[in-house]
Amino acid sequence: MNKSVRSAVIAGNWKMNKTPAETTALINEMKPLVADADCKVVLCVPFIDIPAAVEAAKGSNIEIGAENVHFKASGAYTGEISAQMLIESGVKYVVVGHSERRQYFGETDQTVNLRTLAAVNAGLTAIVCVGETLEQRELGYTETLLKFQTKMALTNISADQLKNIIIAYEPVWAIGTGVTATADQANEGNGYVREAIAEVYGKEIAETVTVQYGGSMNAANADELVAMEHVDGGLIGGTSLKAPDFAAIVKAASK
Ligand code: 13P
Repeated sequence: MNKSVRSAVIAGNWKMNKTPAETTALINEMKPLVADADCKVVLCVPFIDIPAAVEAAKGSNIEIGAENVHFKASGAYTGEISAQMLIESGVKYVVVGHSERRQYFGETDQTVNLRTLAAVNAGLTAIVCVGETLEQRELGYTETLLKFQTKMALTNISADQLKNIIIAYEPVWAIGTGVTATADQANEGNGYVREAIAEVYGKEIAETVTVQYGGSMNAANADELVAMEHVDGGLIGGTSLKAPDFAAIVKAASK
């Protein structure tokens, strides 16, 4: 992390876990454990849990995010949620282009770009996910793919709007598998993302963008990961459902 030029952000991605009642209980448990954080703390929760999460987090340093956003303002898009709906509900962040959305729900680089634009244009901060599969890594495509995904996601995003963009490098092979990227692999992947941003917006601006690592990050490996130059925090799946362990990651990023 380089906190002198960019923010460190620890964000939980709850995925399809927790009911509204469970949301209230988990956030109430987390609040005191992360109260003295020296990094931003965000919880991205299922749509239905947003009101409970916003209410429970009130007055604390926890900010609430969603896990997706549609690219149109309104209309005949059954099952989708607009940026304005999220904003009115108290949401500040939104995950876009998670590999599970790309893998299971047909999300493409183009729709990821459209959703990112909708989020940022409405005033949300987008946490845009990129990452290679194991097969792509073994074929030697990691750098090419991460740079391509990053540039595609940022198409038509202005340099000024980058302050509302976080990129999360999440190697697909490390998500939910218990296999974490080594600190060097995480730093290298995050470095490719930063290089891609520099190629479009210039090095100075690229240095200011928060780039998280995600993929089996936990209380035991967080210290080593966030110590790396390009790892400005994390996007945490499974471990964000356990208050003490998530708090330990927040503590690691607060050093
Ligand atoms: P895990 O931390 O469960 O591996 O999930 C990472 C992730 O996908 C966060 O978006």
